Amino acid sequence: MSGRRYIVVLVLVWALILTWGLYLAFEGTRMARAEEEHWEDLVHRGMVTFAENCVVCHGAAGQGFVGPPLNREELRGHPAEDKDIFEFIVSTVRDGRPGTTTPRWERLVTGEWASYTAMPTFGAVHGGPLNELFLRAVATFIMMGDWSEVSAHIPPAEIPEDREVLLSRLPNAAGLTPEESRRAKEVFVDRGCIACHSMNGVGGKVGPDLTQVGAWTQLTPVEEWEAFLYSWVENPPAMENRAPVYWSNYGGPLPYAAAGSVQTRTAGAQAARVQTGTGTSVTGIGGEEAPSVWEQIPLPNPIPLNPTQMPPMPMTDEERAILVHWLARLGR
Ligand code: HEC
Ligand code: HEC
Repeated sequence: MSGRRYIVVLVLVWALILTWGLYLAFEGTRMARAEEEHWEDLVHRGMVTFAENCVVCHGAAGQGFVGPPLNREELRGHPAEDKDIFEFIVSTVRDGRPGTTTPRWERLVTGEWASYTAMPTFGAVHGGPLNELFLRAVATFIMMGDWSEVSAHIPPAEIPEDREVLLSRLPNAAGLTPEESRRAKEVFVDRGCIACHSMNGVGGKVGPDLTQVGAWTQLTPVEEWEAFLYSWVENPPAMENRAPVYWSNYGGPLPYAAAGSVQTRTAGAQAARVQTGTGTSVTGIGGEEAPSVWEQIPLPNPIPLNPTQMPPMPMTDEERAILVHWLARLGR
């Protein structure tokens, strides 16, 4: 090989090595960026999914109400690394949990409110609205998203323009004359409750659906529930013992309340999770251990409730009395 040809080959080889190195280096950052965009995209999708499906029960800041707070430190992490947390969230949202998904609280002998509401099933595999991509997205959002961005994505209230149509969609309460119900519905609409709360599919999606609010507790005498609602509507931030305390028994019998007067939940629901003052224990109805994936991430006890997002709504005492007389009897 002549000296010149040797140099040419050498230069070519070096050029090749250089381009290959450059290519690799570039490809590395390109992939890292694609990876980052992938997570950002998932978080955004998950945030919108959360705003559309979950806010009514878990709150716009994940602060919890019908469902427990989800803005907890134990649920933060990276889906690719903290696989247990990720799986816990995905499976809970996909499969739900056994029990009633209509809010249900009862007051314990201790005076606390206990929650018997279950997490609904969202997975498309069970006929729900979220396919696997959206389930992963919403879990990714809960783990690494920014809670303060959710409220901007809550869907607008659905309020029929025709007032008569709107009033006819709102439910009548048991034991009230149609005129009494109508008067209360007018207060509900005119004093702005409808902007945040839905009934029968009309209204806002900020607070919980109130279609059955009279039946949220069935052991509490209706007059007592009505009194609670009166104080609540008068000044929500002033309420210390608001519903609920997140005490979930995942389908077992009510531990304290008069057991005879309560129907237990679906037959498939075997696990009873009972929180005591000192911690959480799991027993099956027949004493057998409950196989429960959700035990992996225990709820803090007691769960700290964040300040309410519901403002006091100005109205006369008479209007408030008419309103809660109706609310306390809805669904009873
Ligand atoms: C009808 C009200 C309701 C809706 C809507 C709802 N949840 Fe829940 N969720 C609950 C209740 C109640 C629980 C507690 C269930 C229990 O104790 O078994 C819960 C529990 C959870 C848990 C488990 C928390 C824990 O630490 O045990 C996660 C995660 C969760 N929900 C996510 C979601 C997501 C995401 C959405 C929207 C796609 C959603 N939820 C919509 C009521 C709701
Ligand atoms: C700005 C939105 C908003 C408005 C307006 C609003 N609410 Fe609420 N409401 C909420 C939210 C959010 C919750 C969930 C509880 C919480 O934040 O602590 C709630 C909770 C409730 C509850 C359940 C309280 C409990 O502890 O059991 C009732 C009942 C209720 N609202 C009735 C009303 C009525 C009646 C009006 C009209 C006078 C009204 N709300 C106006 C946002 C609103």
